[in-house]
Amino acid sequence: LLIRIATQKDAATLAVLGAKTFAETFLPDNRADDVMAYVDASFTPQLQARELAAPGVWAFIAECDGEAVGYAKLQRSEAPDCVGGDAPLEIARIYVAAAFHGRGVGAALMNACLEKATALGADTIWLGVWERNERALGFYRRFGFDERGDHVFLLGSDPQRDLIMARPIEPPGDGR
Ligand SMILES: CC(C)(COP(=O)(O)OP(=O)(O)OC[C@H]1O[C@@H](n2cnc3c(N)ncnc32)[C@H](O)[C@@H]1OP(=O)(O)O)[C@@H](O)C(=O)NCCC(=O)NCCS
Repeated sequence: LLIRIATQKDAATLAVLGAKTFAETFLPDNRADDVMAYVDASFTPQLQARELAAPGVWAFIAECDGEAVGYAKLQRSEAPDCVGGDAPLEIARIYVAAAFHGRGVGAALMNACLEKATALGADTIWLGVWERNERALGFYRRFGFDERGDHVFLLGSDPQRDLIMARPIEPPGDGR
């Protein structure tokens, strides 16, 4: 398993992997047209290229035997008030292909995000997660995130409740 920083050249890969993993995650519990409306609006190569080029965005790709099997996107963004902290960073996406769940890929992506956040001097890392996404909720709790509040996420035409979760980032050691 290799974790690497995504570049502009990865826009098409992220579009395919983003669409596939989003559909795998949400099709079972949502209306297909809501899921596909979101996928079509978010995972084109052009949009992925634009996101990768934006300042304050870092994407990581997990490769297993050369195949992209997961990705995460870390970004500077406006944090909801409930997050707190002076220097928050958002994990905007973290997705592993279903066939690779439970094999440490998510942990490797999360650790890459936490390390980058530490290096960037963040003091808090936060994310939004659908209140019904039990698998992700368990994963985030395992990594020390706790619930701080909620907000509305529009999936196609369906307004959903996302929980806002956050955890502190330890400052880098000073060697003492
Ligand atoms: C959530 C997700 C990223 C986790 O990735 P993963 O590769 O399956 O997780 P890992 O195998 O790396 O697990 C890492 C640790 O978290 C734990 N963990 C994973 N899923 C868990 C769960 N549902 N509940 C409790 N702990 C969990 C593992 O046991 C492991 O802990 P350990 O180191 O003590 O053994 C993955 O399941 C996924 O992509 N889900 C679909 C997409 C999604 O919902 N993304 C989030 C949208 S907000």
